[in-house]
Amino acid sequence: MMIVSSLDELKEARRLLDGMVGLVPTMGYLHEGHLSLIRRAREECDHVAVSIFVNPTQFGANEDLSKYPRDLERDLRLIDPLGVDLVWNPTPEIMYPAGYQTWVEVEALTRSLEGAMRPSHFKGVTTIVAKLFNAMQPHKAYFGQKDAQQAAVIRQMVRDLNFPIEMIVCPTVREPDGLAMSSRNKYLEGDDRRAATVLFRALSAAKFAYENGERNAETLRTVMKSVLATEPKASPQYVSCADYDTLEELDVVKGKSLLSMAVLIGKTRLIDNFVLK
Ligand code: PAF
Repeated sequence: MMIVSSLDELKEARRLLDGMVGLVPTMGYLHEGHLSLIRRAREECDHVAVSIFVNPTQFGANEDLSKYPRDLERDLRLIDPLGVDLVWNPTPEIMYPAGYQTWVEVEALTRSLEGAMRPSHFKGVTTIVAKLFNAMQPHKAYFGQKDAQQAAVIRQMVRDLNFPIEMIVCPTVREPDGLAMSSRNKYLEGDDRRAATVLFRALSAAKFAYENGERNAETLRTVMKSVLATEPKASPQYVSCADYDTLEELDVVKGKSLLSMAVLIGKTRLIDNFVLK
């Protein structure tokens, strides 16, 4: 497994990878969700590359970048048995050298949901992902369904900027009690960990209603809100039933749709979603 940091090292290492390259972009502190993306890339590609970079530009001023969990040694130990060929772990100075001033921004899709709560977040995400794509030149790139809006926004960027890359979105990996795996789960202490299952329970209740014929989107949002209201530690930031592609709120669920939510459990902000097909 080659582990590189500088752009020159990356260029040299990338040259050695012949055939189809799959990239799994990450911010490190890997969990089973990331490992499932790496395994899928391993199955589908000749070579697998993983980037590990805590991207400062996708954190808002009130979000604590310095507290984001980091443990490169642990990440490398987890990756090692999975047959990864190349790990790229650049520094912020490599990705954003002094005088940096170029940004990639997707418009309408970034205005709702996460984008409404975290105004500069997606500008940071699309900029770094475009830079990772340009430097790594993968044929396929793997993302988790858990960050549904991120996947939609990057899909739009890939289409709009003609990146010759196939985007693969893989299912959310969950703990046995339904909590979606996330690096942020590390912040859930004591009773917050139990309370955090309310997101899965709220989504499951709305899916159950949908499967029993409910198509009114407002009713599905109400179902989710009423389950969230049973948990005193939960403060919902948004609860949505939207079109899967445009992310516009629906009146009636017809085609592929997305139930999603962001909820504060104590001080920890969690997101989760289910796709209705
Ligand atoms: O999903 C993430 O971990 C990040 O947003 C990503 C795609 C690696 C960009 O920094």
